[in-house]
Amino acid sequence: MLLKNYLAAAGLALMQGSLASLQIVPGGSWTSAGTNQHVQAHGGGIVEVDSVYYWIGENKLNGSAFQSVNCYSSTNLVEWTFVGELLSLQSSGDLGPSRIVERPKVIYNDATSKWVMWMHIDSSSYGEAKTGVATGSSICGKYNYLGSFQPLGFQSRDMGLFKDDDGSAYLLSEDRPNGLRIDRLTDDYTNVTSNTYLWSEHIEAPAMYKKNGVYFMFGSQLTGWSTNDNKYSTATSLSGPWSSWANFAPTGTNTYNSQTTFILGVGPNVMYMGDRWLSSNLMASTYIWLPLTLSGRSASLTNEDSWVISTKQSWTPSPAGTTPEAESSSNTLSNGAVTLTCSGCSGGKSVGYIGGSSSGTLQFKGISSNATTKTTVQVRYENGDSSQRYATVTVNGKSQVLAFIPSTNGNTPFSSSLNVELNAGASNVITIGGYQGGWDE
Ligand SMILES: *[C@@H]1O[C@H](CO)[C@@H](O)[C@H](O)[C@H]1NC(C)=O
Ligand SMILES: *[C@@H]1O[C@H](CO)[C@@H](O)[C@H](O)[C@H]1NC(C)=O
Ligand SMILES: *[C@@H]1O[C@H](CO)[C@@H](O)[C@H](O)[C@H]1NC(C)=O
Repeated sequence: MLLKNYLAAAGLALMQGSLASLQIVPGGSWTSAGTNQHVQAHGGGIVEVDSVYYWIGENKLNGSAFQSVNCYSSTNLVEWTFVGELLSLQSSGDLGPSRIVERPKVIYNDATSKWVMWMHIDSSSYGEAKTGVATGSSICGKYNYLGSFQPLGFQSRDMGLFKDDDGSAYLLSEDRPNGLRIDRLTDDYTNVTSNTYLWSEHIEAPAMYKKNGVYFMFGSQLTGWSTNDNKYSTATSLSGPWSSWANFAPTGTNTYNSQTTFILGVGPNVMYMGDRWLSSNLMASTYIWLPLTLSGRSASLTNEDSWVISTKQSWTPSPAGTTPEAESSSNTLSNGAVTLTCSGCSGGKSVGYIGGSSSGTLQFKGISSNATTKTTVQVRYENGDSSQRYATVTVNGKSQVLAFIPSTNGNTPFSSSLNVELNAGASNVITIGGYQGGWDE
């Protein structure tokens, strides 16, 4: 049973060890500051500049057609703030209505002091198969769109960029008739000069990472929006020889139900960034970020419900925690919020009718934390609508808006990450209430 027309909170999950801190929750609703909506940076990548992470990707709020290339910033990879649109919808041309602009990736050119963005440019039927290029003088500012072309005259669909240690940079490009290409970029990074390698195997969503002199190329098989067992290949030279493609997640998991988009080094850690596309409602696609272990020439991906990443030490799974239920008798339900049957929820129950004209609220009392710290609380919920719902969540008197994308997992609740300060002890109060009068919409 998926609850329609209102938000139903199933409970909370608080992971609260002594190392309690902010956590990455793959596959959940990630509310951005500045928009109070689920982050729209699909098919994206992350660039770190002076200890700030910039996440650049596709806005899919209104479906598959181009709306904008968005940029968000964060200092911890968990709390994201919308900064702006790097490229915005134009009245016509490559960035006009009904166009495809996918997988924007950005690298910095030291010689020109410009940020250079490459992206897949296409018609709505994917008949053009081109790359587009734009440049900007600041990572998260406006970009100047230069135009589009087929690199070296070959089709290009999914693409990525790779900048090597010596400053040479490469376009990774899926050429449907021929295979997957590595093409060398010109010195200013705005064009390609020559082909470096061509795999005849058909691999898309390419992303490259280099560790200890080994190049790792990641990508997926071609199954449209559906997931598959993504692959990797390694080499000690970009021109090969490259090893044969192998799985980096357990076979049959479809890469934990995700498609590669980017690989990011974070201190001693390597983070896999994947998309879990929801083709029927692309804005509700989620981000599957997981720890990737690269050792010698092998790669393996670990699945975690939630985890803690650090620039200073190895990542850890989230510590043990508590899972207070929404329907617990120690909570206070008011203004019409009621306990409901919820077949997929723990205990078979949830609390619904939160928000609405009567401002139904659910108050969790006595939430315990063993440290005074900012941490991530997962709000487990069901939203059977096709659009986001929102709640005002107040923790120890401080309020924020939380977004809830549609929960599309049958009877299993989704999770929305709530990043908050908790006090040590058992007196924290979390109130989930309405937002602007709707049923939490
Ligand atoms: C913090 O709380 C968790 C979960 O209740 C518990 O497992 C852990 O031992 C606690 N840590 C400390 C340092 O008290
Ligand atoms: C959303 O997309 C549809 C179809 O592509 C278009 O007609 C509509 O104007 C778009 N709405 C907004 C707000 O961009
Ligand atoms: C890019 O390189 C190709 C091949 O060298 C060349 O034909 C084309 O004019 C170049 N494009 C631009 C915009 O300089």
